[in-house]
Amino acid sequence: MLMDKTMGLELKMPDLGNLSESAQPLECRVALISADRQLAGDWVNALNATAAQHENPFGLRFEAVTPAGAERLVREEGKLQALIVDGGSDVQGLQAADDLADKVHGLRSQINIFLVAHGALAGAGAESQADSPSPQSLANLRQRFDELFDRREGNFNHMFRLVQAFIARRASTPFADTLKEYVFSARDAWHTPGHSGGDSLRNSPWVGDFYRFMGEHVFNTDLSVSVQVLDSLLEPHSVIQEAQDLAAQAFGARHTFFLTNGTSTANKVVIQQILGGGGKIIVDQACHKSVHHAIVMNRCEPVYLKSVLHPEFGIYGPVKRADIEAALDEHGDARLLVITSCTYDGLRYDLKPIIDYAHERGVKVLVDEAWYAHGYFHPALRPTALECGADYVTQSTHKMLSAFSQASMIHVQDPDFDDHRFRENLNMHASTSPQYAMIASLDVARKQMAMEGYGRLEQCLQMVETLRRAVDETGVFRALTREDLIAEPLAGDNIRLDPTKVTIDISASGYSGKEMQIKLFDQYGIQVEKTTYNTVTVLVTLGSTESKLLRLIHALKQLARNARKRAHIASPRRLPEFTHFNCLPADAYFADTEELPLMDNGAEATKNLVGRTSADEIVPYPPGIPVLVPGQEISAPIVQYLQQLLQGQNATEIHGMIFRSDEPLLRVVREEGKKKPGKKSAAK
Ligand SMILES: Cc1ncc(COP(=O)(O)O)c(C=O)c1O
Repeated sequence: MLMDKTMGLELKMPDLGNLSESAQPLECRVALISADRQLAGDWVNALNATAAQHENPFGLRFEAVTPAGAERLVREEGKLQALIVDGGSDVQGLQAADDLADKVHGLRSQINIFLVAHGALAGAGAESQADSPSPQSLANLRQRFDELFDRREGNFNHMFRLVQAFIARRASTPFADTLKEYVFSARDAWHTPGHSGGDSLRNSPWVGDFYRFMGEHVFNTDLSVSVQVLDSLLEPHSVIQEAQDLAAQAFGARHTFFLTNGTSTANKVVIQQILGGGGKIIVDQACHKSVHHAIVMNRCEPVYLKSVLHPEFGIYGPVKRADIEAALDEHGDARLLVITSCTYDGLRYDLKPIIDYAHERGVKVLVDEAWYAHGYFHPALRPTALECGADYVTQSTHKMLSAFSQASMIHVQDPDFDDHRFRENLNMHASTSPQYAMIASLDVARKQMAMEGYGRLEQCLQMVETLRRAVDETGVFRALTREDLIAEPLAGDNIRLDPTKVTIDISASGYSGKEMQIKLFDQYGIQVEKTTYNTVTVLVTLGSTESKLLRLIHALKQLARNARKRAHIASPRRLPEFTHFNCLPADAYFADTEELPLMDNGAEATKNLVGRTSADEIVPYPPGIPVLVPGQEISAPIVQYLQQLLQGQNATEIHGMIFRSDEPLLRVVREEGKKKPGKKSAAK
């Protein structure tokens, strides 16, 4: 909205001295779109002359483009930062400008768009115009354009300054700049942290090496809540709030909140916001463990949805849309639906119809976009969850963008948002000593996406194409397509694939995923993101470079030449069926419990465990999906599955299992404490 976009807009000249050290000079292209060649030529000349006479730290350069060439320019020119669209002097021209703005926003969410129109048509005195647009369309106009210029005015100084001010606002990093200024003002610290800007380490013969290894700014940016100019993450009013407002605008949210405890905490905050104290929640069994933890912490009653296994690659994908809809129909008292999109493997739901379905039934929707913070910045990746109407979206800015680990955001567009409660809920989970470098990295990661996200993602997508082609050309490895990765039950659900997650089928190489991971690391110094028994996944991010790509392709080519014959690589076992709940997860987790052996004398252990209620969440990695959650009844197939995992050759990491003197044990609710009410929420 115009008001939001201009709020806090500073027309003062931006100080770029601290932003562009050792970087290439900045270049911002601004296109004037007009069918009137004469006008476009005159205006562009005048604007470039103005730019030459004034300070122009962003390198603004104006050029004339016809309406027919506009879309191509927007698609192809990463350095394009703004459009000035000539709406002509009649309603048709205005409509065409409006349509163009719509299309451009669909392609590039961050570009500033200005309208040049006949003043009366664009609003001023519109009532007196016979062919003037309706008030409604005028309101839309003002939402779509950052600012309006009168076609007859010809005040190019003002136009130049305004375009520059909008770009400056997007390019500003209020928190990161303040942090830097504070560090360079070199104040004496008589406050926490105890290392006091690194002074406790610097000259130490024992730990000075750590100071030198980490670098001075790791320490001197590690400050304290006592430093008031840095605002308060827990009660922001100045530079952190400004940085959050800029993030909300960049990611398309109503409100954005920064977190320095990762999306693990973000999910807990949102679940507490909607379900603090209890209530029914519909979640995917394969959702992140933070969601399962929040269910225990908030005494929620979960309805678990079954994610679909791709049997060939051992990858757990999304839940069938029909299953989500059936759960929403069956559980009219549910208050929150949690969906992970995209999944770790890059599978994205067709979110809009699912979110609409939930909203029609009064259910709020949280979309865990831990792996999808880049989605809003390239049309090939849109629509995002916010664009599809999600109420809350959690993103690990650190996973795919340039923020430090643990730096995450919560985006909100819930129409019933209670900001006071949210603040309390957030603060309940947040440290009172946040890492300031992490907050600065959120500010900078947002700026990067707002200024060059499209261009950088375009490069990523080209790299993905090169990588996929090279993988396929080996004749041994195969880059899996969307069709390959979507298991048959999901065929009709319009599931999409995030191309930046490249999963490679390595089955023809004769090596398992684990073996290939080790080979890539030991022989080529390449660390991949994840593996399954017959796949390896790499992430192409803004940090992927041509050189890294070259080395990966080279390694894969060599490994393909050394493929070996091996008849069969054991496929992973299918997860046992989820059983029902004997009580709420919280009741089981906090119950009086006992520990029972899982292995000793297999049959005996099984007999003792079957029918008991698990008090813990038991999660084998991979696939990282719980086979048991607190409150769930233990079945014979679950016990056998866990026993087989422990006996298998590849030691699987199993979270939640207790080991005492190497003996694996499961924590179960004591018999006398076992409640046997009507089955609570059966798994779907
Ligand atoms: C789907 C999903 N949600 C949430 C998280 C937690 O994110 P963070 O590491 O930022 O705490 C992860 C982490 O891998 C994840 O995969």
